[in-house]
Amino acid sequence: MLVDTFNRVHDYLRISITDACNFRCVYCMPEENITFLKQQYLMSNEEIFSLAKIFVDLGVTKIRLTGGEPLVRKDFGSIVSKLALLPIKIGITTNGLLLDNYLEDIKKADIVSINISLDSLRKEKFKTITQRDHFDQVMKNILLCIENNLYVKLNVVTLKGVNDSEIIDFVHLTKNLPIHVRFIEYMPFSGNNWDKDKVFSNQIALQTIENQFSLFKLVDEKNDTDKKFGIFGHAGTISFISTLTDTFCSTCNRLRITSDGKLKNCLFGKEEFDLITPLRNGENIVPIIVNAIVKKHEKLGGQFVDYTQVVASTLENRSMIKIGG
Ligand code: GTP
Ligand code: 5AD
Ligand code: SF4
Repeated sequence: MLVDTFNRVHDYLRISITDACNFRCVYCMPEENITFLKQQYLMSNEEIFSLAKIFVDLGVTKIRLTGGEPLVRKDFGSIVSKLALLPIKIGITTNGLLLDNYLEDIKKADIVSINISLDSLRKEKFKTITQRDHFDQVMKNILLCIENNLYVKLNVVTLKGVNDSEIIDFVHLTKNLPIHVRFIEYMPFSGNNWDKDKVFSNQIALQTIENQFSLFKLVDEKNDTDKKFGIFGHAGTISFISTLTDTFCSTCNRLRITSDGKLKNCLFGKEEFDLITPLRNGENIVPIIVNAIVKKHEKLGGQFVDYTQVVASTLENRSMIKIGG
């Protein structure tokens, strides 16, 4: 088992399979021109499987594939079908654009739930946020997933003055659709133009919703990132991921591997532990993994405590697109 010095058991691994993306979301992409990794620096399908297998042997029971955008990888189907051979729950976090191409692969891999990013229900606003005109296709794919009995979680990053006026519309979406909408606080990363004044706190989001809807609390699992609620008379549910105003680090069970094969022990951690080079050299990487767990900080990568004091440019971290969330 991978247990850190704060007694947290790490059984959830997020693997970023590419740093490339077909969207340009303003809160995720750094402003300067970003270059994506060349093929030889990315983990191959076989390397992803080998690493996954090593982590499963160390106690990992859930693996989430992230990006960039994971579905831009041409061999995505083959990656999930191999991972499906392992005794794990597989998750995917995607922008949804290419989901129709991979529905069969997803179903064959026994994936039952899919997390899709959608920050606006308005075509024009969607375009402003993602810098791409793909709202209709993404909505179509969300509905397609629901029709195919996949449990859809919508990730909505709330940006003050940009989409906070749509919180109620997102709750209305749960009236007839069995969808789970998650409101996420805007987090600071390298070059993502973050400022504390752009954060829309989930406490205010909850109050805004409670003013119009009758909510009831749902049970949260031990390691969940979100606090869940039902809405009387609605088919779907909502929840809040409050990294900044109500940190959930004390129950963290997550590790990350970047698309270039570096282990990150925290989303906000500056330390990275190279796994791919020793793996390619045929070395035993277990001691490196164990050392990375031992070095994990108690909260927020040890980089900040109070988000209102954060100056984003002073955080030492990758951009979100190169971490994968
Ligand atoms: P489930 O497994 O379905 O609960 O999804 P998830 O919340 O683990 O993953 P997802 O990729 O959908 O991420 C949703 C949001 O939660 C994104 O904004 C992530 O950056 C954020 N998130 C996920 N894991 C962590 C974490 O370990 N720490 C923090 N602070 N945020 C996280
Ligand atoms: N703050 C909060 N969530 C973010 N995501 C990307 N960037 C940020 C940020 N700065 C979310 C995406 C996606 C998930 C992987 O992370 O919306 O759903
Ligand atoms: Fe875990 Fe780091 Fe996220 Fe906190 S910020 S929940 S320690 S990954």
